[in-house]
Amino acid sequence: MTELIAKKRDGFALSKEEIDFMVEGYTRGEIPDYQMSAMLMAMYFRGLDKEETVNLTMAMMHSGDTIDLSGITGIKADKHSTGGVGDKTSLVLCPMVAAQGVKMAKMSGRGLGHTGGTIDKLESFPGFSCEMTTEKFFENVNSVGFAIAAQTADVVPADKKLYALRDVTGTVAVRGLIVSSIMSKKLAAGADIIVLDVKVGSGSFMKTIEDARLLAGEMVEVGKAAGRKTVAVMTDMDSPLGCCVGNALEVKEAISALRGETKGDLLELCLTIGSNILLEGGIAESEEKAREMLVRSIEDGSALKKLAEFVEAQGGDSAAVWDTSLLPEAPIKYEALSTCSGYVKSMQADGIGLVSLQLGGGRVTKESEIDLGVGLVLHKKTGDFVAEGESLATIHASSMEKAEKAAEMLRKCYEFSAEKGEDSPFIKGIVR
Ligand code: URA
Repeated sequence: MTELIAKKRDGFALSKEEIDFMVEGYTRGEIPDYQMSAMLMAMYFRGLDKEETVNLTMAMMHSGDTIDLSGITGIKADKHSTGGVGDKTSLVLCPMVAAQGVKMAKMSGRGLGHTGGTIDKLESFPGFSCEMTTEKFFENVNSVGFAIAAQTADVVPADKKLYALRDVTGTVAVRGLIVSSIMSKKLAAGADIIVLDVKVGSGSFMKTIEDARLLAGEMVEVGKAAGRKTVAVMTDMDSPLGCCVGNALEVKEAISALRGETKGDLLELCLTIGSNILLEGGIAESEEKAREMLVRSIEDGSALKKLAEFVEAQGGDSAAVWDTSLLPEAPIKYEALSTCSGYVKSMQADGIGLVSLQLGGGRVTKESEIDLGVGLVLHKKTGDFVAEGESLATIHASSMEKAEKAAEMLRKCYEFSAEKGEDSPFIKGIVR
């Protein structure tokens, strides 16, 4: 390992055998954290070339169990987002796609962060669980069309260790490491079609479109090298996705989208990802046709019905799908009023995520309890006009003190200008 660290430090590429040795040794605990930390820092400064990235992805994928989805009939798709604020895409996308007959067997995490992960959000339905046997997981995917299971420690154990180490050594933002971390998990999960949502902007890892395009391109190349149909969509994360940030609030927004009541960026993203899945799966012959099919699943209620079936199949009470007032709710609703007027020039999406975190909507440590009812409903986003004294957002909080602090923090996330700025497209590009 000492020789490999020096090789990378001096700018040379590691061979497949060297990468296999390093990943296997580190996963087994034979290579210590201090050596791996030095390697990660060398990778941070020297980068990884395409061959190293493919080899690292494959070594990580094979560090633990891989899921064999051959017991599930039909086309199997998966989607992954590089992470952003207010991202409830899976809750809308999976039911819409399943209503068209494509199967989605998703593994998901809880995660540290501004809000919980998809699993935490889904626990807004009383009784809902993502813990199940592999047999039950497959049975649900076959009967309902989709299932979401908690990612087990046996899938890509190398990433569990590496990601935790990257997190505390300032080495998260290395393209080759992000690609291998995400793609090893997606490949191990076994789907035929993988659609990646690469976020660009203040609330994401990739701050510029150039960086996002490089990341998207490499993830697509790695997916194809592994024989999977892979597409990456690059989308804006300068503002949170949709209007709600917070666990139960995001479930409510997802249900509203499935009822056809919420349009905007959230629906656009789900239609874009969903139509690419239908196209790659040969279910639709053009993007327009695919979009029509997905919109129809909202209009005829079949997608919403799928969500209710899914919640029931995983032990939850689906009554809240039909009556969202049954979802957890915070006791305090507080309007965050604007202290100035003008057009919203920009919003700090990551700062807005931190507002949700301080309200109790996310985890600070792995042990933190999430408050499912808290969060924010944004009334103003980039490009909107705001008059002084108008509400920027409704804060849902557990106490008045937290609500006032959240309002203070939120106001600092907005930047105003006298003139309306140019609208920038939400979908920034697609890499196939
Ligand atoms: N998400 C992951 O799973 N891994 C990364 O490295 C970055 C984002």
